[in-house]
Amino acid sequence: MISHAIVLKSLLIFLYFTTYMNTCQATNFVVPSRTNKNYTEFIKASCNTTLYPRPCYKSMSKFAEKIQANPKLLANTSISVTLKEAKSTFVTMKNMSKYKGLSTGEKAALRDCVEVTDDSVYELQRSLDQMNHMEEGDTHFDFEISNVQTWVSAALTDYSTCMDGFYNVNEGNVKAKVSKYAVNVLQLTSIGLTFINRYARSG
Ligand SMILES: *[C@@H]1O[C@H](CO)[C@@H](O)[C@H](O)[C@H]1NC(C)=O
Ligand SMILES: *[C@@H]1O[C@H](CO)[C@@H](O)[C@H](O)[C@H]1NC(C)=O
Ligand SMILES: *[C@@H]1O[C@H](CO)[C@@H](O)[C@H](O)[C@H]1NC(C)=O
Ligand SMILES: *[C@@H]1O[C@H](CO)[C@@H](O)[C@H](O)[C@H]1NC(C)=O
Repeated sequence: MISHAIVLKSLLIFLYFTTYMNTCQATNFVVPSRTNKNYTEFIKASCNTTLYPRPCYKSMSKFAEKIQANPKLLANTSISVTLKEAKSTFVTMKNMSKYKGLSTGEKAALRDCVEVTDDSVYELQRSLDQMNHMEEGDTHFDFEISNVQTWVSAALTDYSTCMDGFYNVNEGNVKAKVSKYAVNVLQLTSIGLTFINRYARSG
């Protein structure tokens, strides 16, 4: 169980990042016409509905042809991209936790980051597995998609928890590198959650 104080702090940090990073204003979602074969516009418009339009477009635009204008493929691809980044972040954090000369604070904070990043990989993998075993109109669609929403939200919390652990750790290479990695996956996870929520409304 996480205490209320930690949840509150996570929220504050999350708000800080969303306010700080979200310089682009989300605009109304535009559905491209059926004759519009340039699916890049669909990705761009969808990314505009997220808190992080630029990182979203950067990570998703190369899948435009595959996604076309399908909300399920948009959500699935986004979670799949996030999972891949979460896995490599886990490997990086684990590697960093073995660095010589870490301070006691860095060591403890990294240990927590390794743990929660590992959790996030599990949660994102589970989400993807569930996504691949469901369709709009299924009897259990609402239940299944709400599980996915829960797991992806948990992964989002994992990355703010990781950053929270560094709150009292002195600035330095370790903290900077962890933040860079954690913010990257946190943003991708947030983007994924936006697309999952949208897919949930389509069921
Ligand atoms: C699709 O649209 C984007 C942005 O408007 C543009 O940069 C790209 O060249 C277009 N691609 C094709 C194949 O028309
Ligand atoms: C996305 O947002 C940017 C910045 O607000 C805007 O310039 C662009 O026209 C929007 N694109 C779409 C497809 O909505
Ligand atoms: C979702 O993404 C996974 C991993 O990239 C892929 O194996 C799967 O086929 C995708 N599912 C759908 C419905 O596209
Ligand atoms: C682990 O860290 C060391 C030192 O920075 C680096 O040389 C090595 O490539 C890293 N390994 C992995 C798997 O990231």
